Amino acid sequence: MLCVAAAIAREPVRFRQAAVVAQEPLAADVGAEVLRRGGNAVDAAVAVAFALAVTHPSAGNIGGGGFLLARFADGRATFIDFREMAPLAASRNMYVGPDGKATEDSLIGWRAAAVPGTVRGLEMAHRKYGSRPWAELLAPAIRLAAEGVTLSYAEARSICGAGARLGRFDESRRIFLKGGACFEPGEVLKQPELARTLERIARHGARDFYEGETARILAEEMKANGGLITLEDLRGYQAIEREPLKGSYRGYTILTAPPPSSGGIGILQMLGMLEGTGYEKHGAGSASSLHYIAEAMRRYFADRAEYLGDADFASVPIRGLLDPGYIATRRATIRADRATPSAELGAGRPRRESEDTTHFNVIDAQGNAVALTYTINNSYGNAVTVPRLGFLLNNEMDDFAAQPGKPNMFGLIQGEANAIAPRKRPLSAMTPTIAEKDGRLVMALGAPGGPRIISGVLQVLLHVIDFGMDIQQAVDQPRVHHQWMPDRLYHERGLSPDTLALLRQRGHELAEIYAVGSVEAILVEEPRVRAVADATTTGSNVTDRIRWLAAAQNGRSAGKASGY
Ligand code: DON
Repeated sequence: MLCVAAAIAREPVRFRQAAVVAQEPLAADVGAEVLRRGGNAVDAAVAVAFALAVTHPSAGNIGGGGFLLARFADGRATFIDFREMAPLAASRNMYVGPDGKATEDSLIGWRAAAVPGTVRGLEMAHRKYGSRPWAELLAPAIRLAAEGVTLSYAEARSICGAGARLGRFDESRRIFLKGGACFEPGEVLKQPELARTLERIARHGARDFYEGETARILAEEMKANGGLITLEDLRGYQAIEREPLKGSYRGYTILTAPPPSSGGIGILQMLGMLEGTGYEKHGAGSASSLHYIAEAMRRYFADRAEYLGDADFASVPIRGLLDPGYIATRRATIRADRATPSAELGAGRPRRESEDTTHFNVIDAQGNAVALTYTINNSYGNAVTVPRLGFLLNNEMDDFAAQPGKPNMFGLIQGEANAIAPRKRPLSAMTPTIAEKDGRLVMALGAPGGPRIISGVLQVLLHVIDFGMDIQQAVDQPRVHHQWMPDRLYHERGLSPDTLALLRQRGHELAEIYAVGSVEAILVEEPRVRAVADATTTGSNVTDRIRWLAAAQNGRSAGKASGY
């Protein structure tokens, strides 16, 4: 009997002029509406970010931080760093218990929170580059919080899945678990306290969050619950505008995230390592091309562990790590036929110089682009909802090396450059990225997924640039991830058994993983804009296949492309 399996190829969503792609549909629509009313990409990004703080509480936030990368129609580009900062009372070994082992305090509860940056970052972006009134951009979020959001299957399952953590804190249990039971899909989540906080921010700007009533309440609650963040910490928080990292790859210019992100250095270093290998000759998804990609990842992640941290505190040899000569020496150690055991491969020696996240993209009709990734780290952050304020706090302190040399939540080993210090920003993997060619915008992309963000963004770039895939195919193609330690090649489902066998033969230990990031991407191909929301969703360190399969069966993918 002949069996015919029908695979339905997904198509990117095409828009004539402008698009928003986000991980939660209501927020994507908020952004598209801002664009339709004449707002620019930065306006839309601000509105989407505030909306996600209401509709996608696992990662959308005002209690966390992130990075915004923008490229304007005239070719200028900028990067706004609103990563959280360690409080003044933080210290190097604050999460090491009397037994010398890391405690859970960097992950859950009040002490896990670093000083949030989101509201300051969005305000800076709006003040410098926005065009619509601030309050107008917060209005949809306020309405969604006050009137309530009808929970999709995906959101209801996600909140329920975090029930054990959220249930440990009264205010989180009351708001997100109805006092003790999971929300069902189709039920309405109302967040009146959050609506009031957002109203104050709409009226008084970021000042409310950092110096006004919200600051006062947050500092009071911190003190009452053993948290570290004080009014002084909040007042002292600044967003920082930085130069994006810039590199070139096969005629494309890649704009990406500088420290305290580790991602941009990773993307540029790995592209550089791959460029000289001819790996692409073997074809997408082949054992040989995946082997080279994995070996480039292994080498970059070994350097990351050694050298990367907040460059305002530690001396990060950015130029050394991206120096073509250095990259060539790293490339030269890749063997075509054998995986290099990580235990035999340390960080390289670059020249030293003196010296559950979410991502969305917006492209407006003028050709301005924003790629924004922000996070509270774990899904639902540290699980604490601040009483009277209605928002969840981050557990970004866990992105520091709580114990230098020991693995963190993502199994990442990190070194002294990323040790905790007051006012320092934890190293991040968030990698909003924009590609241009011949001075024209080509692509905006990024992802959640911890360290897998960097691997996910890298591979979607490779799929488009080296393998000529359309953006939908580029996102759907199974991806791999290697982070040096553990010495394991993670792969998504969908690689053929003989490809896996060939990788094993080369000495790779393989492990299937649900998702290597959840990549949201927009490709500009005149006269159309093509947008793709990844069909995968990611949880924090564990990705949740069941959640997506069920959501897909309900006819909803996790994210949405919206536009006109
Ligand atoms: O900044 C970072 O690298 C992490 N806090 C990101 C966490 C993340 O992506 C979780 N999402 N799935």
